[in-house]
Amino acid sequence: MSGHGQAQPMIASKSGPLSGTASVPGDKSISHRALIFGAMAVGETRISGLLEGQDVLDTAKAMQAFGATVTRHGLGDWTVNGVGVGGFQEPADVIDCGNSGTGVRLIMGTMATTPITATFTGDASLRKRPMGRVTDPLSLFGTRAYGRKGGRLPMTVVGAAAPVPVRYALPVASAQVKSAVLLAGLNAPGETVVIEKEPTRDHSERMLLGFGATLNVEKTAEGHVITLLGRPELRPQTVAVPRDPSSAAFPVCAALIVEGSDILVPGVSQNLTRNGLYLTLVEMGADIAFLNPREEGGEPVADLRVRFSGNMKGIEVPPERAPSMIDEYPILSVVASFAVGKTVMRGVKELRVKESDRIDAMARGLEACGVRVEEDEDTLIVHGMGAGGMPGGATCATHLDHRIAMSFLVAGMAAKADIAVDDASPILTSFPIFEGLMTGLGASLRRG
Ligand code: S3P
Repeated sequence: MSGHGQAQPMIASKSGPLSGTASVPGDKSISHRALIFGAMAVGETRISGLLEGQDVLDTAKAMQAFGATVTRHGLGDWTVNGVGVGGFQEPADVIDCGNSGTGVRLIMGTMATTPITATFTGDASLRKRPMGRVTDPLSLFGTRAYGRKGGRLPMTVVGAAAPVPVRYALPVASAQVKSAVLLAGLNAPGETVVIEKEPTRDHSERMLLGFGATLNVEKTAEGHVITLLGRPELRPQTVAVPRDPSSAAFPVCAALIVEGSDILVPGVSQNLTRNGLYLTLVEMGADIAFLNPREEGGEPVADLRVRFSGNMKGIEVPPERAPSMIDEYPILSVVASFAVGKTVMRGVKELRVKESDRIDAMARGLEACGVRVEEDEDTLIVHGMGAGGMPGGATCATHLDHRIAMSFLVAGMAAKADIAVDDASPILTSFPIFEGLMTGLGASLRRG
Protein backbone atom coordinates (compact mmCIF):
# COMPACT_ATOMS: atom_id res chain seq x y z
CA MET A 1 0.00 0.00 0.00
CA SER A 2 1.17 3.51 -0.57
CA GLY A 3 -0.63 4.96 2.40
CA HIS A 4 -3.41 6.21 0.13
CA GLY A 5 -5.79 3.39 1.04
CA GLN A 6 -7.78 2.65 4.17
CA ALA A 7 -5.98 1.73 7.37
CA GLN A 8 -6.38 -1.98 8.14
CA PRO A 9 -6.15 -2.70 11.88
CA MET A 10 -5.04 -6.24 12.77
CA ILE A 11 -4.85 -8.16 16.04
CA ALA A 12 -2.53 -11.00 17.08
CA SER A 13 -3.34 -13.34 19.97
CA LYS A 14 -1.28 -15.84 21.91
CA SER A 15 -0.93 -18.72 19.47
CA GLY A 16 -0.57 -22.47 19.76
CA PRO A 17 2.62 -24.09 18.42
CA LEU A 18 3.53 -23.00 14.89
CA SER A 19 4.28 -25.85 12.51
CA GLY A 20 4.74 -26.52 8.81
CA THR A 21 6.73 -24.89 6.04
CA ALA A 22 7.01 -21.13 5.60
CA SER A 23 7.78 -20.39 1.95
CA VAL A 24 8.42 -16.64 1.92
CA PRO A 25 8.30 -14.57 -1.28
CA GLY A 26 11.14 -13.23 -3.41
CA ASP A 27 13.80 -10.85 -2.16
CA LYS A 28 12.72 -7.21 -2.36
CA SER A 29 16.19 -5.77 -2.99
CA ILE A 30 16.93 -8.26 -5.76
CA SER A 31 13.46 -7.83 -7.30
CA HIS A 32 13.89 -4.05 -7.67
CA ARG A 33 17.33 -4.56 -9.18
CA ALA A 34 16.20 -7.29 -11.61
CA LEU A 35 13.63 -4.87 -13.07
CA ILE A 36 16.05 -1.94 -13.20
CA PHE A 37 19.02 -3.84 -14.67
CA GLY A 38 16.64 -5.55 -17.09
CA ALA A 39 15.50 -2.10 -18.24
CA MET A 40 19.15 -1.09 -18.83
CA ALA A 41 19.97 -4.17 -20.93
CA VAL A 42 19.21 -4.42 -24.64
CA GLY A 43 16.75 -7.28 -25.21
CA GLU A 44 14.59 -9.50 -23.03
CA THR A 45 15.39 -10.30 -19.39
CA ARG A 46 13.31 -13.10 -17.82
CA ILE A 47 12.62 -12.96 -14.11
CA SER A 48 11.18 -15.75 -11.98
CA GLY A 49 10.25 -15.45 -8.31
CA LEU A 50 9.80 -11.67 -8.52
CA LEU A 51 8.28 -10.25 -5.33
CA GLU A 52 4.87 -8.86 -6.24
CA GLY A 53 4.77 -6.44 -3.31
CA GLN A 54 3.63 -2.88 -3.90
CA ASP A 55 7.18 -1.47 -3.70
CA VAL A 56 8.36 -3.66 -6.56
CA LEU A 57 5.17 -3.09 -8.59
CA ASP A 58 5.84 0.65 -8.32
CA THR A 59 9.36 0.12 -9.69
CA ALA A 60 7.95 -1.98 -12.56
CA LYS A 61 5.59 0.88 -13.42
CA ALA A 62 8.44 3.36 -13.29
CA MET A 63 10.56 1.28 -15.68
CA GLN A 64 7.65 1.37 -18.14
CA ALA A 65 7.44 5.14 -17.77
CA PHE A 66 11.13 5.39 -18.73
CA GLY A 67 10.51 3.33 -21.88
CA ALA A 68 11.12 -0.32 -20.98
CA THR A 69 8.44 -2.93 -21.69
CA VAL A 70 7.58 -4.82 -18.52
CA THR A 71 5.22 -7.80 -18.79
CA ARG A 72 3.75 -10.11 -16.18
CA HIS A 73 3.22 -13.68 -17.40
CA GLY A 74 2.16 -15.35 -14.14
CA LEU A 75 2.88 -15.20 -10.42
CA GLY A 76 6.47 -13.95 -10.07
CA ASP A 77 7.12 -14.63 -13.74
CA TRP A 78 7.97 -11.41 -15.59
CA THR A 79 9.92 -10.16 -18.60
CA VAL A 80 11.59 -6.82 -19.16
CA ASN A 81 12.53 -5.59 -22.62
CA GLY A 82 15.22 -3.06 -21.88
CA VAL A 83 16.25 0.10 -23.68
CA GLY A 84 19.98 -0.09 -22.98
CA VAL A 85 22.36 2.03 -20.89
CA GLY A 86 21.56 5.69 -21.58
CA GLY A 87 18.37 4.71 -23.43
CA PHE A 88 15.79 5.96 -20.92
CA GLN A 89 13.11 8.23 -22.37
CA GLU A 90 11.66 11.16 -20.44
CA PRO A 91 8.58 10.07 -18.47
CA ALA A 92 5.33 11.83 -19.38
CA ASP A 93 4.16 12.07 -15.78
CA VAL A 94 5.36 12.16 -12.18
CA ILE A 95 7.01 8.92 -10.99
CA ASP A 96 5.26 7.72 -7.81
CA CYS A 97 7.49 5.30 -5.89
CA GLY A 98 4.88 4.73 -3.19
CA ASN A 99 6.57 3.63 0.06
CA SER A 100 9.89 2.59 -1.46
CA GLY A 101 13.18 4.29 -0.61
CA THR A 102 15.06 1.65 -2.58
CA GLY A 103 12.87 2.21 -5.64
CA VAL A 104 13.18 5.99 -5.73
CA ARG A 105 16.89 6.16 -4.88
CA LEU A 106 17.96 3.50 -7.37
CA ILE A 107 15.79 4.95 -10.13
CA MET A 108 17.15 8.47 -9.53
CA GLY A 109 20.65 7.04 -9.98
CA THR A 110 19.65 5.18 -13.12
CA MET A 111 18.31 8.30 -14.92
CA ALA A 112 20.86 10.74 -13.47
CA THR A 113 23.36 10.51 -16.33
CA THR A 114 20.83 10.61 -19.18
CA PRO A 115 19.73 14.07 -20.46
CA ILE A 116 16.10 13.77 -19.35
CA THR A 117 14.09 15.30 -16.52
CA ALA A 118 11.87 13.36 -14.12
CA THR A 119 9.84 14.32 -11.07
CA PHE A 120 9.56 11.82 -8.22
CA THR A 121 7.11 11.52 -5.35
CA GLY A 122 5.90 8.92 -2.89
CA ASP A 123 3.57 8.32 0.04
CA ALA A 124 3.59 10.30 3.29
CA SER A 125 6.39 8.09 4.70
CA LEU A 126 8.65 8.40 1.64
CA ARG A 127 8.07 12.15 1.40
CA LYS A 128 9.65 12.51 4.86
CA ARG A 129 12.84 10.61 3.96
CA PRO A 130 16.13 12.28 2.99
CA MET A 131 17.10 12.17 -0.69
CA GLY A 132 20.19 14.39 -0.31
CA ARG A 133 22.27 11.31 0.47
CA VAL A 134 21.68 10.30 -3.17
CA THR A 135 21.42 13.66 -4.94
CA ASP A 136 24.69 14.90 -3.33
CA PRO A 137 26.85 12.24 -5.01
CA LEU A 138 24.75 12.42 -8.19
CA SER A 139 25.57 16.15 -8.45
CA LEU A 140 29.23 15.14 -8.91
CA PHE A 141 28.23 13.56 -12.25
CA GLY A 142 26.63 16.88 -13.25
CA THR A 143 23.06 15.96 -12.27
CA ARG A 144 20.81 18.64 -10.74
CA ALA A 145 17.98 18.05 -8.29
CA TYR A 146 15.30 20.37 -6.96
CA GLY A 147 13.30 19.12 -4.01
CA ARG A 148 11.54 20.31 -0.89
CA LYS A 149 13.38 21.60 2.16
CA GLY A 150 15.82 19.01 3.57
CA GLY A 151 16.07 17.25 0.21
CA ARG A 152 12.57 15.79 0.47
CA LEU A 153 10.21 14.56 -2.27
CA PRO A 154 8.56 15.64 -4.48
CA MET A 155 11.78 16.25 -6.31
CA THR A 156 12.72 16.97 -9.90
CA VAL A 157 15.95 15.46 -11.18
CA VAL A 158 17.64 16.81 -14.31
CA GLY A 159 19.99 14.23 -15.77
CA ALA A 160 23.51 15.28 -16.76
CA ALA A 161 23.95 15.87 -20.50
CA ALA A 162 27.72 15.36 -20.36
CA PRO A 163 28.30 13.21 -17.26
CA VAL A 164 31.78 12.80 -15.81
CA PRO A 165 32.84 9.73 -13.82
CA VAL A 166 32.95 10.02 -10.06
CA ARG A 167 35.01 8.81 -7.11
CA TYR A 168 32.83 8.74 -3.99
CA ALA A 169 33.44 7.51 -0.44
CA LEU A 170 30.10 6.69 1.19
CA PRO A 171 29.52 8.81 4.31
CA VAL A 172 26.83 6.35 5.54
CA ALA A 173 26.69 2.58 5.19
CA SER A 174 23.95 2.47 2.55
CA ALA A 175 23.46 0.00 -0.26
CA GLN A 176 20.89 2.35 -1.77
CA VAL A 177 23.41 5.17 -2.08
CA LYS A 178 26.14 2.81 -3.32
CA SER A 179 23.77 1.39 -5.93
CA ALA A 180 22.52 4.81 -7.06
CA VAL A 181 26.11 5.94 -7.73
CA LEU A 182 26.98 2.71 -9.57
CA LEU A 183 23.81 2.94 -11.68
CA ALA A 184 24.63 6.54 -12.58
CA GLY A 185 28.21 5.48 -13.36
CA LEU A 186 26.91 3.07 -15.99
CA ASN A 187 26.26 5.96 -18.38
CA ALA A 188 29.34 8.03 -17.50
CA PRO A 189 32.49 7.52 -19.58
CA GLY A 190 35.52 6.05 -17.77
CA GLU A 191 35.73 4.58 -14.29
CA THR A 192 33.32 5.39 -11.46
CA VAL A 193 34.63 4.40 -8.04
CA VAL A 194 32.59 3.90 -4.86
CA ILE A 195 34.33 3.26 -1.55
CA GLU A 196 32.47 1.77 1.40
CA LYS A 197 34.02 1.43 4.86
CA GLU A 198 31.61 -1.27 5.97
CA PRO A 199 30.27 -3.74 3.43
CA THR A 200 26.54 -3.37 2.68
CA ARG A 201 24.32 -5.70 0.65
CA ASP A 202 26.13 -6.48 -2.58
CA HIS A 203 23.25 -7.41 -4.91
CA SER A 204 23.98 -4.55 -7.34
CA GLU A 205 27.60 -5.61 -7.73
CA ARG A 206 26.61 -9.24 -8.28
CA MET A 207 23.96 -8.27 -10.80
CA LEU A 208 26.19 -5.82 -12.67
CA LEU A 209 28.68 -8.64 -13.18
CA GLY A 210 25.87 -10.99 -14.23
CA PHE A 211 24.61 -8.49 -16.82
CA GLY A 212 28.12 -8.20 -18.27
CA ALA A 213 29.49 -4.95 -16.79
CA THR A 214 33.18 -4.64 -15.97
CA LEU A 215 33.36 -4.23 -12.20
CA ASN A 216 36.14 -4.81 -9.74
CA VAL A 217 35.93 -4.96 -5.93
CA GLU A 218 39.14 -4.55 -3.98
CA LYS A 219 39.50 -4.81 -0.20
CA THR A 220 41.89 -2.08 0.97
CA ALA A 221 42.65 -0.22 4.20
CA GLU A 222 40.01 2.35 3.12
CA GLY A 223 37.38 -0.40 2.84
CA HIS A 224 35.79 -1.95 -0.25
CA VAL A 225 36.81 -0.06 -3.37
CA ILE A 226 34.31 -0.77 -6.16
CA THR A 227 35.37 0.27 -9.65
CA LEU A 228 32.89 0.23 -12.53
CA LEU A 229 33.75 0.87 -16.15
CA GLY A 230 31.10 3.11 -17.74
CA ARG A 231 29.11 2.66 -20.94
CA PRO A 232 29.00 -1.14 -21.13
CA GLU A 233 26.42 -2.92 -23.23
CA LEU A 234 24.42 -4.85 -20.66
CA ARG A 235 23.27 -8.27 -21.85
CA PRO A 236 19.77 -9.48 -20.88
CA GLN A 237 19.73 -12.24 -18.27
CA THR A 238 17.54 -14.91 -16.75
CA VAL A 239 17.18 -13.93 -13.10
CA ALA A 240 15.84 -16.38 -10.50
CA VAL A 241 15.06 -14.22 -7.46
CA PRO A 242 15.86 -16.04 -4.21
CA ARG A 243 13.56 -15.78 -1.18
CA ASP A 244 13.84 -12.71 1.04
CA PRO A 245 15.82 -13.28 4.26
CA SER A 246 14.28 -10.10 5.70
CA SER A 247 10.78 -11.55 5.21
CA ALA A 248 11.90 -14.98 6.47
CA ALA A 249 12.88 -13.23 9.70
CA PHE A 250 9.21 -12.90 10.72
CA PRO A 251 8.18 -16.59 10.70
CA VAL A 252 11.63 -17.54 12.05
CA CYS A 253 11.32 -15.19 15.02
CA ALA A 254 7.68 -16.12 15.58
CA ALA A 255 8.68 -19.81 15.86
CA LEU A 256 11.45 -18.93 18.32
CA ILE A 257 9.06 -17.21 20.76
CA VAL A 258 5.80 -19.19 20.35
CA GLU A 259 5.96 -22.16 22.71
CA GLY A 260 6.19 -25.60 21.10
CA SER A 261 6.84 -24.33 17.56
CA ASP A 262 8.85 -26.27 14.98
CA ILE A 263 8.88 -24.93 11.42
CA LEU A 264 10.91 -25.17 8.23
CA VAL A 265 11.81 -22.03 6.27
CA PRO A 266 13.34 -23.06 2.95
CA GLY A 267 15.90 -21.16 0.88
CA VAL A 268 16.98 -18.43 3.32
CA SER A 269 19.91 -16.38 2.01
CA GLN A 270 23.20 -16.85 3.81
CA ASN A 271 24.79 -13.96 1.88
CA LEU A 272 27.19 -12.44 4.42
CA THR A 273 25.83 -8.96 3.65
CA ARG A 274 22.30 -10.06 4.67
CA ASN A 275 22.57 -12.74 7.40
CA GLY A 276 23.43 -10.67 10.50
CA LEU A 277 20.12 -11.42 12.22
CA TYR A 278 20.67 -15.16 11.97
CA LEU A 279 24.17 -14.93 13.51
CA THR A 280 22.72 -12.81 16.31
CA LEU A 281 19.85 -15.20 17.02
CA VAL A 282 22.26 -18.14 17.25
CA GLU A 283 24.43 -16.17 19.70
CA MET A 284 21.30 -15.56 21.79
CA GLY A 285 20.72 -19.32 22.01
CA ALA A 286 18.11 -19.75 19.27
CA ASP A 287 17.53 -23.31 18.09
CA ILE A 288 18.06 -22.95 14.33
CA ALA A 289 19.53 -25.68 12.13
CA PHE A 290 20.98 -24.58 8.79
CA LEU A 291 20.20 -27.49 6.47
CA ASN A 292 21.03 -28.30 2.88
CA PRO A 293 23.36 -25.36 2.06
CA ARG A 294 23.41 -24.64 -1.68
CA GLU A 295 23.25 -21.86 -4.25
CA GLU A 296 19.96 -20.45 -5.60
CA GLY A 297 19.66 -17.51 -7.99
CA GLY A 298 23.35 -16.75 -7.48
CA GLU A 299 22.96 -16.49 -3.67
CA PRO A 300 24.13 -18.96 -1.00
CA VAL A 301 21.00 -20.29 0.75
CA ALA A 302 20.05 -22.86 3.40
CA ASP A 303 16.80 -24.37 4.70
CA LEU A 304 16.20 -23.29 8.28
CA ARG A 305 14.60 -25.61 10.82
CA VAL A 306 13.52 -23.38 13.66
CA ARG A 307 12.25 -24.55 17.04
CA PHE A 308 10.83 -22.71 20.03
CA SER A 309 13.72 -21.49 22.14
CA GLY A 310 12.68 -20.78 25.72
CA ASN A 311 16.19 -20.05 27.00
CA MET A 312 17.44 -17.22 24.83
CA LYS A 313 19.76 -14.66 26.44
CA GLY A 314 20.12 -10.97 25.70
CA ILE A 315 23.41 -9.99 24.05
CA GLU A 316 25.39 -6.96 22.82
CA VAL A 317 24.93 -6.93 19.07
CA PRO A 318 28.29 -5.95 17.49
CA PRO A 319 27.72 -2.51 15.89
CA GLU A 320 29.77 -3.47 12.83
CA ARG A 321 27.12 -6.11 12.10
CA ALA A 322 24.43 -3.45 11.61
CA PRO A 323 24.62 -3.16 7.78
CA SER A 324 24.01 -6.92 7.40
CA MET A 325 20.84 -6.83 9.52
CA ILE A 326 19.69 -3.23 9.23
CA ASP A 327 16.07 -4.14 8.40
CA GLU A 328 15.92 -6.79 11.14
CA TYR A 329 16.32 -4.67 14.30
CA PRO A 330 12.55 -4.24 14.78
CA ILE A 331 11.92 -7.99 14.87
CA LEU A 332 15.13 -8.58 16.85
CA SER A 333 13.86 -6.19 19.50
CA VAL A 334 10.73 -8.34 19.77
CA VAL A 335 12.80 -11.52 20.22
CA ALA A 336 14.95 -9.62 22.74
CA SER A 337 11.81 -8.92 24.78
CA PHE A 338 11.32 -12.69 25.19
CA ALA A 339 14.98 -13.35 26.10
CA VAL A 340 16.50 -13.19 29.58
CA GLY A 341 18.62 -10.10 30.25
CA LYS A 342 19.21 -7.05 28.13
CA THR A 343 19.94 -6.84 24.43
CA VAL A 344 22.05 -3.84 23.46
CA MET A 345 21.82 -2.57 19.88
CA ARG A 346 24.33 0.21 19.19
CA GLY A 347 25.29 1.98 15.98
CA VAL A 348 21.71 1.90 14.71
CA LYS A 349 20.92 5.57 13.98
CA GLU A 350 20.15 4.69 10.35
CA LEU A 351 16.95 3.14 11.73
CA ARG A 352 15.68 6.67 12.31
CA VAL A 353 15.42 7.35 8.54
CA LYS A 354 13.75 4.14 7.38
CA GLU A 355 10.04 3.85 6.43
CA SER A 356 9.52 5.25 9.95
CA ASP A 357 11.82 6.21 12.82
CA ARG A 358 12.15 2.57 13.80
CA ILE A 359 13.94 3.20 17.12
CA ASP A 360 11.08 5.41 18.24
CA ALA A 361 8.33 3.18 16.79
CA MET A 362 9.71 0.04 18.50
CA ALA A 363 10.51 1.79 21.78
CA ARG A 364 7.01 3.30 22.11
CA GLY A 365 5.24 0.09 21.06
CA LEU A 366 7.30 -2.20 23.31
CA GLU A 367 6.78 0.13 26.26
CA ALA A 368 3.03 0.03 25.61
CA CYS A 369 3.33 -3.79 25.72
CA GLY A 370 5.02 -3.60 29.14
CA VAL A 371 8.67 -3.96 28.12
CA ARG A 372 11.43 -1.71 29.54
CA VAL A 373 13.38 0.00 26.78
CA GLU A 374 16.22 2.55 26.73
CA GLU A 375 17.18 4.57 23.69
CA ASP A 376 19.36 7.36 22.48
CA GLU A 377 20.01 8.73 19.01
CA ASP A 378 22.13 5.73 17.98
CA THR A 379 21.11 2.99 20.45
CA LEU A 380 18.22 0.76 21.43
CA ILE A 381 18.35 -1.39 24.58
CA VAL A 382 15.61 -3.91 25.35
CA HIS A 383 15.24 -5.46 28.80
CA GLY A 384 14.04 -8.99 28.17
CA MET A 385 11.24 -10.53 30.21
CA GLY A 386 11.95 -14.18 29.34
CA ALA A 387 9.81 -16.68 27.42
CA GLY A 388 6.12 -15.79 27.60
CA GLY A 389 6.94 -12.76 29.76
CA MET A 390 5.70 -9.85 27.64
CA PRO A 391 2.38 -8.55 29.03
CA GLY A 392 1.08 -7.19 25.66
CA GLY A 393 -2.44 -5.77 25.73
CA ALA A 394 -1.71 -2.69 23.62
CA THR A 395 -2.38 -1.16 20.23
CA CYS A 396 0.84 -0.18 18.46
CA ALA A 397 1.22 2.51 15.81
CA THR A 398 2.88 1.31 12.59
CA HIS A 399 3.59 4.70 10.95
CA LEU A 400 3.18 3.33 7.38
CA ASP A 401 6.02 0.88 8.12
CA HIS A 402 5.58 -2.76 7.08
CA ARG A 403 8.32 -4.08 9.36
CA ILE A 404 6.91 -2.34 12.43
CA ALA A 405 3.48 -3.83 11.67
CA MET A 406 4.82 -7.38 11.25
CA SER A 407 7.07 -7.10 14.32
CA PHE A 408 4.23 -6.23 16.69
CA LEU A 409 1.94 -8.87 15.19
CA VAL A 410 4.65 -11.48 15.83
CA ALA A 411 5.01 -10.17 19.39
CA GLY A 412 1.26 -10.62 19.89
CA MET A 413 1.54 -14.32 18.98
CA ALA A 414 3.58 -14.91 22.16
CA ALA A 415 2.54 -12.13 24.55
CA LYS A 416 0.15 -12.74 27.46
CA ALA A 417 -2.57 -10.46 26.05
CA ASP A 418 -3.51 -9.49 22.47
CA ILE A 419 -1.42 -6.95 20.56
CA ALA A 420 -3.13 -4.89 17.87
CA VAL A 421 -1.59 -2.70 15.18
CA ASP A 422 -3.43 0.36 13.94
CA ASP A 423 -2.62 -0.34 10.29
CA ALA A 424 -1.36 -3.59 8.77
CA SER A 425 -1.87 -2.46 5.16
CA PRO A 426 1.82 -1.45 4.66
CA ILE A 427 2.70 -5.17 4.93
CA LEU A 428 1.60 -5.40 1.29
CA THR A 429 4.71 -3.43 0.26
CA SER A 430 7.08 -6.32 1.01
CA PHE A 431 5.24 -9.47 2.18
CA PRO A 432 1.79 -9.61 0.57
CA ILE A 433 1.15 -13.20 1.77
CA PHE A 434 2.14 -12.54 5.41
CA GLU A 435 -1.34 -12.99 6.89
CA GLY A 436 -2.10 -16.25 5.03
CA LEU A 437 1.38 -17.67 5.58
CA MET A 438 1.38 -16.98 9.33
CA THR A 439 -2.18 -18.24 9.91
CA GLY A 440 -1.27 -21.32 7.83
CA LEU A 441 1.48 -22.06 10.38
CA GLY A 442 -1.08 -21.75 13.18
CA ALA A 443 -0.73 -18.11 14.21
CA SER A 444 -3.80 -16.36 15.63
CA LEU A 445 -4.23 -13.22 13.53
CA ARG A 446 -7.46 -11.44 12.78
CA ARG A 447 -8.48 -8.21 11.15
CA GLY A 448 -9.76 -5.54 13.52
C1 S3P B 1 18.20 -1.69 0.59
C2 S3P B 1 19.13 -1.07 1.40
C3 S3P B 1 18.88 -0.72 2.80
C4 S3P B 1 17.63 -1.41 3.36
C5 S3P B 1 16.49 -1.38 2.39
C6 S3P B 1 16.88 -2.07 1.09
C7 S3P B 1 18.56 -1.99 -0.80
O1 S3P B 1 18.69 0.68 2.90
O2 S3P B 1 17.24 -0.82 4.57
O3 S3P B 1 15.36 -2.03 2.92
O4 S3P B 1 17.84 -2.76 -1.47
O5 S3P B 1 19.58 -1.45 -1.28
P1 S3P B 1 19.93 1.69 3.06
O6 S3P B 1 20.72 1.64 1.82
O7 S3P B 1 19.30 3.04 3.27
O8 S3P B 1 20.68 1.21 4.26
